[in-house]
Amino acid sequence: MAVTRTFSIIKPDATRRNLTGAVTQMLEESGLRVVASKRIRMSREQAEGFYAVHKERPFYGELCDFMTSGPVVVQVLEGEDAVRRNRDIMGATNPADAAEGTIRKSFAESIEANSVHGSDSDENAANEIAFFFAKDEIVG
Ligand code: CMP
Repeated sequence: MAVTRTFSIIKPDATRRNLTGAVTQMLEESGLRVVASKRIRMSREQAEGFYAVHKERPFYGELCDFMTSGPVVVQVLEGEDAVRRNRDIMGATNPADAAEGTIRKSFAESIEANSVHGSDSDENAANEIAFFFAKDEIVG
């Protein structure tokens, strides 16, 4: 299996509850390595650009409000089949549907305040990584 990269966000509901370390520990224990990480306050422009694919969805405005409501931690994760591995440990988008032992089952408050984001394909991972990180910020 190839070693690949994915993009992760620890969302404002998790940073507010001081769960950055707990979430990162679960990512690491699942076999992923943090090869870039920074804590930022997303601007409105960044949130709208990042989630542009959801522009027509009814929750777009509230999603951007939420993602700019507090600090987030953006990360690049590396490992075998990183996109799938990260999605497995994150669990379903809606915590009500998330499996035991996943990050969202353990920590998420709601479908919006669901603690983490993870890329859904290798192509989106590359775009999302480039959205937040310069090449020299990623040290594998
Ligand atoms: P994320 O992986 O960050 O990508 C889009 C986000 O929209 C998703 O996680 C959810 O947290 C959020 N969201 C809010 N409401 C909904 C909804 N009704 N359906 C899907 N995603 C939603």
